[in-house]
Amino acid sequence: MTKIDVLLGLQWGDEGKGKIVDVLTPGYDVIARFQGGPNAGHTLEFNGMKHVLHIIPSGIFHKDKVNLIGNGVLIEPRIFRQEIEALSEKGVDATQNLFISKKAHLILPSHRMMDAANEQAKGNSKIGSTLKGIGPAYTDKIARSGIRVGDTLAPDFREHYTLLKEQHIRMAQTLGFDVKAFRIDGMDLDQYEALWMESLETLKKFRFVNSEYFINQCLKDNKKVLAEGAQAMMLDIDFGTYPFVTSSNTITAGVCTGLGVAPSTIGKVMGITKAYCTRVGAGPFPTELFDETGSRLCELGHEYGATTGRPRRCGWIDLPALRYACMINGVTDLFVTKPDVMNDFETVKMCTAYKINGQLTDEIPFEYNTLPIEPVFTPYDGWKQSLQGIDRYDDLPERLKGYLDAIEQQTGVHIAAVSISPDRKDVLFK
Ligand code: GDP
Ligand code: IMO
Ligand code: MG
Repeated sequence: MTKIDVLLGLQWGDEGKGKIVDVLTPGYDVIARFQGGPNAGHTLEFNGMKHVLHIIPSGIFHKDKVNLIGNGVLIEPRIFRQEIEALSEKGVDATQNLFISKKAHLILPSHRMMDAANEQAKGNSKIGSTLKGIGPAYTDKIARSGIRVGDTLAPDFREHYTLLKEQHIRMAQTLGFDVKAFRIDGMDLDQYEALWMESLETLKKFRFVNSEYFINQCLKDNKKVLAEGAQAMMLDIDFGTYPFVTSSNTITAGVCTGLGVAPSTIGKVMGITKAYCTRVGAGPFPTELFDETGSRLCELGHEYGATTGRPRRCGWIDLPALRYACMINGVTDLFVTKPDVMNDFETVKMCTAYKINGQLTDEIPFEYNTLPIEPVFTPYDGWKQSLQGIDRYDDLPERLKGYLDAIEQQTGVHIAAVSISPDRKDVLFK
């Protein structure tokens, strides 16, 4: 019996998970998503082509590999169909190697409306949701009124759908939300619903499976399975910067509930961090830079959301948060991405502790959102060198290696590889 390896983000998302999964896929038989949904945007680049995945696992470009959408994932049929069509334009026929859990929940058009209604009702304390319906769909899952992929085949599906939709409309109206004026891609709820229902037929062309049996059988058959995380540690519903989080468990523990595997089956836990830090949406970010350096990170790193196009907030790497992430997730291997963005920087800084009301601390405090957190920085001389063409870890500039060594020392976790460009080929294993 093999173990299931995990790859997840250690910051606030967009660490380069899609890219690293794509690079690791040749070493696996099955790539499985275990949580999140179309709020994710995972970018893959190879052979001069760029592709963004939202719901579909990042192993899909390797046609001999199985890709599984687990029970913990949320599927929005119309977005799913758009993804399938975009893949098909690139010559990828996902019908052959993509399997979907019957227990994965669906995002209804009215869940997306509720997302907008909830955000509007929050006024100044908006979360900055991607508005894909994530919060409302997980709310219905927990409230035991959601609709699962397998439920779409039941005779009472339409009835179930209508009841839920009407309930959402009533809730939105109670919040003072203008249901009639609501639009998704320029369409009102009824117009969008028609497309959504049509897209459901595309979804039904895929193989719906009892994924918990499917995945456990894979492990018994000694198949190598990689679980692909979406979002990241600091957006976890329990341990992230609540309430500025997503609505799922993004951490290693989420693999067990999102796929139906026992904790004892977890193997390597690969955690990804950028060499700096970004966040999109609202919420605390102690190392955020509001100066020219922050703008440079944004511009040079092309830090614009892969799902929403919003500019990402940028700052220095945050070691207290990273250590917290390593602790909660049991990270065994670190992957560091995007140091190349800082190639021209005179100085690169690392936050090694927080100062809160004059006290140094290493802990993420409960009052993370409200306490004045002063990051304590250690500066490093920049490596001031292009990394283009470097194809061995040992050949990286000494000052960059020193910076990476410091990350290893500070986290106590070894670095497995460093990524130095968006392209699939530029991952240097140590
Ligand atoms: P994910 O959500 O974690 O999969 O990450 P995203 O795809 O949302 O964002 C990562 C962005 O950084 C994408 O545009 C990638 O193409 C890009 N990227 C990934 N690794 C590197 C790297 O090492 N260097 C540079 N410059 N860009 C990278
Ligand atoms: P990937 O997988 C970065 C953020 C949103 C918002 C909060 C809640 O590409 O790393 P939601 O739509 O889940 O209700 O939004 O979480 N967020 C992400 N930020 N990367 C993501 O995914 C994200 N998914 C959600 O910006 O602040
Ligand atoms: Mg992303």
